Amino acid sequence: MDKIVICGKKPLYGTIDVSGMKNAALPILFATVLVGGKFVLENLPDVNDINLTLKILTLLGAPCVRRGSATEIDTTHLDENAEIPLSLVKKMRASYYLVGAKLGRYGKAHVGYPGGCDFGTRPIDQHLKSFRTLGASAEVNGGYIDAEAKDGLYGSHIFFDMVSVGATINAILAATRAEGMTIIESAAREPHIVDLANFLNTCGAHITGAGTDTIKIRGEKNLHGCSYDIIPDMIEAGTYMTAAAAAGGRVVVRGVIPKHIESVTAKLLEMGVTVNVADDSVEIVREPDKELTRIMVKAVPYPGFPTDMQPQICALVCGAKGTSYVSEGVWDNRFRYVEELVRMGAHILVEGKTAIVEGGAPMKGTQVSAVDLRGGAAVVIAALAAEGITVIDNIELIERGYDDLVGKLAGVGADIRRVSFPD
Ligand code: EPZ
Repeated sequence: MDKIVICGKKPLYGTIDVSGMKNAALPILFATVLVGGKFVLENLPDVNDINLTLKILTLLGAPCVRRGSATEIDTTHLDENAEIPLSLVKKMRASYYLVGAKLGRYGKAHVGYPGGCDFGTRPIDQHLKSFRTLGASAEVNGGYIDAEAKDGLYGSHIFFDMVSVGATINAILAATRAEGMTIIESAAREPHIVDLANFLNTCGAHITGAGTDTIKIRGEKNLHGCSYDIIPDMIEAGTYMTAAAAAGGRVVVRGVIPKHIESVTAKLLEMGVTVNVADDSVEIVREPDKELTRIMVKAVPYPGFPTDMQPQICALVCGAKGTSYVSEGVWDNRFRYVEELVRMGAHILVEGKTAIVEGGAPMKGTQVSAVDLRGGAAVVIAALAAEGITVIDNIELIERGYDDLVGKLAGVGADIRRVSFPD
């Protein structure tokens, strides 16, 4: 069994290059199924969720070849009845984008119910509602999502009851080839929604308003393949910015879109960290003995502070003097990682959807687990700042979303290794 071993208290110096964004690449990969054609995608991150998705595309009949930084995919001829094993679709959340993609292309979909990180209940009612609004039947039956548009999909007005990234993406996928105009209200505004719309427009779709809460889609059947560059991963960037702030030193996080990480930059500045923003990079400077200021932060949909950075900022405020409040405004229960930080010595009390952190308690390395993807990143950050050696298990959860995390942190001077332990 492989684990990550970190010896903490080493300041970080150097440059980290950010990979392509997992949560943009996933819907774009499933959108290649919707479109049907030949694609060259640049900047696909080499992470477990993406490699799993390439496996799903291959099982559908699409050859996928990675050549250097580019990935070639041909979804021209697919087996529309190919069934993807439940064991595969249950390994991640994004597999449910196959429902919108297949419904849009073939008028029907039969896809296993997805898995993904455990944050309490993760309903899909808004996805099903959007399919139904476009004229399809959509039900969950015996562990599968079944959707069918016997008379075709028709453009319509979709009003979401809450802001959902996944439901916005599935609605876009299903509506892109529908007959007529679809308007999506209360749409998610995340940069990955914009990237999906830009990708589909490059394939010939007519999508406007992505990045606002109203998206309009004029259905278009005539779509084609394309070459496309995936945007940089704002959560990966934010994770390394936070890691540099926790460990101290001077780190340039390169190849980013600074606008996407403004909410993280703002919190680091508030804590007394120096952040120098350039065109496509941010430099984080913190003298190792410089005290951090306590903060209050609430995770909300974009452009607010991202829920996918909530565990990492919580790990950082463990080193800030005074009481910090870290609130979760998206998920029911995204604090399972707190117990791992407490094992290391952190003083954290979770009350409802807020973690109350008494910062400044001495943190010491010990054996901890990655309880989920970003919770895993949080223990890595805590370990970089802690005294002694931390051994992290369940690292395949970290590798679902971080491309070469060990190599990138080692490259800026962290004492971090991936070690094989006998089972
Ligand atoms: C996406 O999940 C991301 N995953 C998550 O990142 C991220 O935390 C989340 O968006 C919020 O930004 C991917 O992009 C693959 P939602 P998603 O639908 O789409 C409720 C990571 O770490 N809801 O925006 O599943 C839901 O329960 C992952 O990379 C319904 O009630 O999230 C939640 O409270 C983890 N009914 C809220 O909406 C629905 O039908 C937002 O969920 C759908 C969602």
